[in-house]
Amino acid sequence: MPLPPGLDQLEARAREVLSPGAFAYFTDAAYADAEGRETTAARNLRAWSSWYIVPRVLRDVSAVDAGTTVLGTRVELPVLTAPCAFNAFAHPDAERAVARAAARSGTVQIVSTAASMPPDEVAAETEAPKWFQLYSDTDPGETDARLDAAEKAGFRAVVLTVDAPVGAPRYTGYPEQGFGAVATGSVLDPRLDWREVERLVRRTPLPLVIKGLVHPGDARLAVECGAAGVVVSNHGGRQLDGEIPTALALPGVVEAAAGRIEVYVDGGVRSARDVLRALALGARAVLIGRPYIWALALDGEAGVHELLERLREELRNAMMLAGQVDAANVERDVVVAAAQAGLPRS
Ligand SMILES: Cc1cc2nc3c(=O)[nH]c(=O)nc-3n(C[C@H](O)[C@H](O)[C@H](O)COP(=O)(O)O)c2cc1C
Repeated sequence: MPLPPGLDQLEARAREVLSPGAFAYFTDAAYADAEGRETTAARNLRAWSSWYIVPRVLRDVSAVDAGTTVLGTRVELPVLTAPCAFNAFAHPDAERAVARAAARSGTVQIVSTAASMPPDEVAAETEAPKWFQLYSDTDPGETDARLDAAEKAGFRAVVLTVDAPVGAPRYTGYPEQGFGAVATGSVLDPRLDWREVERLVRRTPLPLVIKGLVHPGDARLAVECGAAGVVVSNHGGRQLDGEIPTALALPGVVEAAAGRIEVYVDGGVRSARDVLRALALGARAVLIGRPYIWALALDGEAGVHELLERLREELRNAMMLAGQVDAANVERDVVVAAAQAGLPRS
């Protein structure tokens, strides 16, 4: 099934095929429809557009590499699939379909602790490198068991989500299926702290990526704790409403990380130009959440694969038009904040 030309139309198309309950769960955000104000989820989308692209011209762009490496693993496009719980509410093939699509497109799937099937089954679906997203449990034995299982299943990295010590009020997304368990806090760990991060880093031989920070001070602590990377994320606006949009938080985190660890970003990435903006601001790669859920709902593995291929082709195109030939080395001054537009550095 051909996807719509604009990827931000995916949501409307997916709405037509999903049950109202499943659609509400995926689209939901903290305080969505509750107060009549623009939510962080909505601001995430808008914030990418506030970075204007300032292209360089008259460069030979006949050979473009839209791929990069993440934690040393080659990926054919700098777009990973974010850990999203319960993919089965989008399509019966669920995480397995995403695994196959990501493998075919040469990228990394990040599998949620709250996946709709056991993570080792997803891991076994393809040979391709995958990362495991870890929710720390109130019972450290359970946390360690998840970590051990991830290692045994062959995951290449652990992505520890740290922006959910508790769920946030979401008033639209708890439909009849009763899948609010994770978000409502029953398995979340409000005691998770930097000391526990240090313990996990020591305990696992896998590289540990911290997902869900936006503050430069936290990026510095992540480096000190031995993290291999961070994901600048506000959970797609599903946690603290009012939080800074990730496109605006990214530069501060990149500066604080100072090249010592890899920085990824997610939240509202809806086009290849958004990917280019993120790379220019210093992200190694982006994660997409809802877009691949919508593509999965529309056409299973084929839909997710088409989405990833579309992003790769459109990224190559945007890079050529912006005078950039290497996704791993996009120049910082090809984006400028709208407020300073017209004043790119030389
Ligand atoms: C339906 C849904 C479920 C999610 N489940 C998880 C999860 O289990 N673990 C996690 O770390 N993040 C989870 N997230 C957050 C995503 O990993 C990601 O940060 C976010 O979706 C990115 O924003 P975007 O949807 O605008 O691309 C979830 C997001 C959605 C939309």
